[in-house]
Formats: sequence, C-alpha cells, structure tokens
Amino acid sequence: MSFEILDAAALTEVVQLAEKSDPYAWPLPQWRSSLKDDWVLAKREQGVLVGLLVLKPNLYETELLYLLVAPKARRQGLAAELLDKSLVHSEALNAERMLLEVRASNQPAIALYKGRGFVQEGKRKNYYPLLADDKTAASKGYEDALLLTHWFI
Ligand SMILES: CC(C)(COP(=O)(O)OP(=O)(O)OC[C@H]1O[C@@H](n2cnc3c(N)ncnc32)[C@H](O)[C@@H]1OP(=O)(O)O)[C@@H](O)C(=O)NCCC(=O)NCCS
Repeated sequence: MSFEILDAAALTEVVQLAEKSDPYAWPLPQWRSSLKDDWVLAKREQGVLVGLLVLKPNLYETELLYLLVAPKARRQGLAAELLDKSLVHSEALNAERMLLEVRASNQPAIALYKGRGFVQEGKRKNYYPLLADDKTAASKGYEDALLLTHWFI
C-alpha cells in the first residue's frame, strides 16, 4: 500500500471510487476543481485507489472537504492514517486549526474525528439533503451538520 498526492490525471479513478462507495459522492465538476486546487491524498492497494482525503488550505486554517475509504478496505485503520497525515500536513502549513463538517447521523466518522482530537464547536441545522430513501416526514428531507475543529494552538 502506498500514499500519493493526486492531481487532475486521477479524475476518472477518483470519480469511479467515489461513485461506487459513497451515496453522497461529489459531482464530477467538484472533483475536477478539487484535484486542481486542493491537497488530495490517496492510498492504493495493488495499484487500485482504496481511500482518499481532500484538504483545502486557507490562510490560517485547513478544511477537510472529503474523506472516503472503499467499503472493502474499511475498519483497517486507513481513514485514521489519511487523517493523521492531513493533520501533520496542516501543522506544517502553520494552520491554527483544521475544520470539517459531518452529517449528524454519521457515527463512524464522528467517532473517528473525536478520537483524533476534534471537538464540536457548532451545528448547522437542516444543512445536508438526505437521500430519497431517508426522507421521513420528521426529517423534512434534511439533516444537521456538526462543525468540528482540531486546534493546533
Ligand atoms: C468514515 C470512514 C471514512 C471510516 O473509514 P475506515 O478506514 O473504516 O476507518 P478506520 O478503520 O481508520 O477507523 C478509525 C476509527 O473510526 C471509527 N470508526 C470507523 N468505522 C466505524 C464504524 N463502522 N463504527 C464505529 N466507529 C467507526 C472508530 O473510532 C475507529 O477506531 P477503532 O478502529 O480504533 O475503533 C468510512 O466508513 C467511509 O468512507 N464512510 C463513507 C464516507 C464518509 O462517511 N466519510 C466521512 C464524511 S465526513
């Protein structure tokens, strides 16, 4: 297994991994722009992409925009490895903090982030649209976003 920084040449592979693994996968134009502008760290297993993380560097902070591990490669510490590398990269950029948003229902991701020192600093009500299957009258088709921060200072 090896880590690498992806660029625009990986567009097709990235879109394929995301579309087959994530019901909330980004649309192609968003990947095109992230592969051009952001720090996209990925891991391969026998040449095939199995996980990736997108980090946007801003002036005093970095923002985790996307994290995905292929279903077959989950629960082996891969997301934790990607996240740890993004924390090291953020510190090297002199970021004061790393920010992210996560669906309030995404317990695996929330456990991962809290285990890595992220704390909840806010909540955006009814921020994320739900999939058609999840739309109950109670949810009104949206769920909250939790705003998490990892401080370096
Ligand atoms: C969330 C996700 C990235 C985790 O990837 P992963 O490689 O399986 O995670 P890891 O094996 O590195 O697990 C690290 C920690 O995360 C938490 N975790 C991961 N999967 C979990 C699960 N199914 N249930 C509970 N906790 C979980 C645990 O705290 C785990 O630590 P532990 O193994 O010591 O218990 C993966 O499930 C995924 O790609 N989900 C779909 C996309 C997504 O939700 N991305 C995050 C958007 S903010």
